[in-house]
Amino acid sequence: MRAVVLVGGFGTRLRPLTNTTPKPMLPVGHRPMIARLVDRLARGGVTEVVLALGFRPEPFVDAFPDGRCGDVQLTYAVEPEPLDTGGAIKFAADHAGIAETFIVANGDVVTDLDVGELVAAHRRWSAEATLHLIGVDDPSAFGVVAIEDRRIVDFVEKPEPGQEPSNLINAGTYVFEPSVLDLIPSGERVSIERSTFPLLAARGSMYGVPTDDYWIDAGRPELYRAANLDLLRGVRRAESCQPVADGAIVAASARIVDSIIGDGATVGADAHVVDSVVLPGASIGPHATVESSLVMGSVGEGAELRRAIIGADGRVAEGASVVDASVPPPAPG
Ligand code: GTP
Repeated sequence: MRAVVLVGGFGTRLRPLTNTTPKPMLPVGHRPMIARLVDRLARGGVTEVVLALGFRPEPFVDAFPDGRCGDVQLTYAVEPEPLDTGGAIKFAADHAGIAETFIVANGDVVTDLDVGELVAAHRRWSAEATLHLIGVDDPSAFGVVAIEDRRIVDFVEKPEPGQEPSNLINAGTYVFEPSVLDLIPSGERVSIERSTFPLLAARGSMYGVPTDDYWIDAGRPELYRAANLDLLRGVRRAESCQPVADGAIVAASARIVDSIIGDGATVGADAHVVDSVVLPGASIGPHATVESSLVMGSVGEGAELRRAIIGADGRVAEGASVVDASVPPPAPG
């Protein structure tokens, strides 16, 4: 079975980390988010993944130089300009010549969903489209469905708070019949959530599978951090990771608590790292304190970070304090 994986977004909410690394290439538990996603799709029967790229294919090609991720063959579909989610699915499916039932996944979803079960439900109901659904407390920031006996009868993207038809949201993994592609014009910017799903709901051919699987949309900093740290907490069905990568250099007197230290990162003497992700190649100086933060760049001796995001080119000076802020800061405008 083939899958289209959407990886072409700008990842603005994860800046400055995404200034240098596309969001799906950021590590979750020492492995690129996309590699964990492709592995899970493979466990559900996927043998080929078409990566729908809006820009900059190089980091992906460099990471998978032989065009494979494990046993899965990778194909790259690079849009001439970002086409939004629906336009990207159409472009990628046309590029790969998809004319059979296929899977679509958002590249930033971290979940334990069994994709094989989603496909089985889709076939059982002879659906045109089947969506993975998750129940959340505040659905208004997502695509929300109204569902009647598994059939999705309404789909509203980011409704006004209080106007949500249910607490079930689009969890970013779909099974589509090729006829869904006929609803999307070629070469145009189309949002699958705003344009195509309402049409399918009106047709009565779209179904939903609510599950209580682990699920995180890792596109926001605090959720990207949680997606990493949850791998240490034993809350995932089949995945876990060690806190400190083998290739990290951590001083014996450093204290690492509920944190991940990536390959090639260094942590100096008496540094204290809590609830944080120190990404590959980052450096934490001696006596620094890093709390609830994401660090790709360097943190000077004795500096203090709390709820900070330090990009690859971010340098925190010796003794400086960064609280609820990013280095470098967001570009103006
Ligand atoms: P933000 O800029 O932080 O909102 O992140 P994003 O650009 O990734 O947007 P969002 O999380 O809403 O996108 C959902 C999924 O669709 C992600 O996996 C994106 O990579 C992908 N995506 C969004 N727009 C495009 C596009 O124009 N082309 C392609 N190929 N993928 C896209």
